[in-house]
Amino acid sequence: MFSRNLLKTAVKHAARINTIPLPRARYTTSVKAAAGPILSSIGGGYPDGERINADKITIVSYQDGERVKEVVPVVASAAEPDAPAADAQKAAIAMHPDVFAQLSPTMAGFALQGKVAVVTGGGRGLGFNMAQALAEVGVRGIAILDVQQDTGEKAARELSEQTGVDVRFYQVDVRDAGAMSQTIDDIVVHYGALDILINAAGIADSNMKAENYDIVAFRRLIDINVTGSFLTAQACGNAMIKSGKGGSIINIASMSGSVVNYPQEQSCYNASKAAVIQLTKSLAAEWARYGIRVNSISPGYMDTALNRVPALEAQKKIWMENTPQKRLGAVHDLNNLAVYLASDGSAFMTGNNCLIDGGYTLW
Ligand SMILES: NC(=O)c1ccc[n+]([C@@H]2O[C@H](COP(=O)([O-])OP(=O)(O)OC[C@H]3O[C@@H](n4cnc5c(N)ncnc54)[C@H](O)[C@@H]3O)[C@@H](O)[C@H]2O)c1
Repeated sequence: MFSRNLLKTAVKHAARINTIPLPRARYTTSVKAAAGPILSSIGGGYPDGERINADKITIVSYQDGERVKEVVPVVASAAEPDAPAADAQKAAIAMHPDVFAQLSPTMAGFALQGKVAVVTGGGRGLGFNMAQALAEVGVRGIAILDVQQDTGEKAARELSEQTGVDVRFYQVDVRDAGAMSQTIDDIVVHYGALDILINAAGIADSNMKAENYDIVAFRRLIDINVTGSFLTAQACGNAMIKSGKGGSIINIASMSGSVVNYPQEQSCYNASKAAVIQLTKSLAAEWARYGIRVNSISPGYMDTALNRVPALEAQKKIWMENTPQKRLGAVHDLNNLAVYLASDGSAFMTGNNCLIDGGYTLW
């Protein structure tokens, strides 16, 4: 009702703005405000006083020469946003092929019709959800790469049952250069193309003090999060270069690559994600000449299995408190950005690190 009234008023006002003289009072006020110092014109310069936190909005329009005044109440916003559903899995729904022909140019810019994607860490969590999103906007083939056999296989089965997309699961560790290269070769042979890579495989170490961080654990995390992202990007990048058609690579970094998390100590994870962000920029600069775009998504605290461990329960309250939106991200909160970055809609965007964190990094 509120927006309909405003719209109605705006349309009428636009139609009549050339024929109706400005009300005298309004004209006089603006001249006064312009004559004095800018600050004094705010609040004190106006007879009605400040307009911050108004409980109503007065709208004046002119209809057939008649002045019409409306007063619209300002509805108080809810105190707390809703908490996210706890990892509720939604089934993916593929679009009917006929729909693609009817999309407006802007909507068609998001479509991924006929493309082929690789999603590492696609067995569960953010990777699986982004794979679902790709399947919903026309991707014809998805290769899920994950180190966990059962999880990855289940994900591939569910995704193909839900959408009819040709989904293949490869059990591969992203640190294994030989296996990765072989896997990507097989994907290109099977699908005849490779257009999109989402690099979501990763692990986290929290509450590890730097002064006694185990060096083996440190090296392992860096190896999975950084070397693994690089090896996968390298294998897919080579395939994209060879095809001559370019592609889009999306690295899942983290806000931890830009800020230091609180209160848990996790120097290694933070350093690994900063490296992923800089790797993204470096690859974007090197591979622009091949038509390959490379961007990263930096999520804030997300409600995934990665964080669903008893040791983190108490800290989650602090995380939410420090997030302006007062919630953890839902597993599907990255989906639309992933689709955008994968699509031609973002054709001029490369080397960008996109934060999706409920506002965490604002404070
Ligand atoms: N959950 C969060 O709060 C959060 C926040 C910021 C960034 N991230 C990042 O998002 C990505 C996905 O996280 P998630 O929360 O979905 O985690 P998750 O643990 O739910 O899923 C990660 C997947 O990666 C796979 N994986 C792990 N190591 C692998 C390896 N060596 N080779 C192949 N696959 C491997 C796992 O088997 C798992 O299926 C990670 O890179 C993570 O760092 C997560």
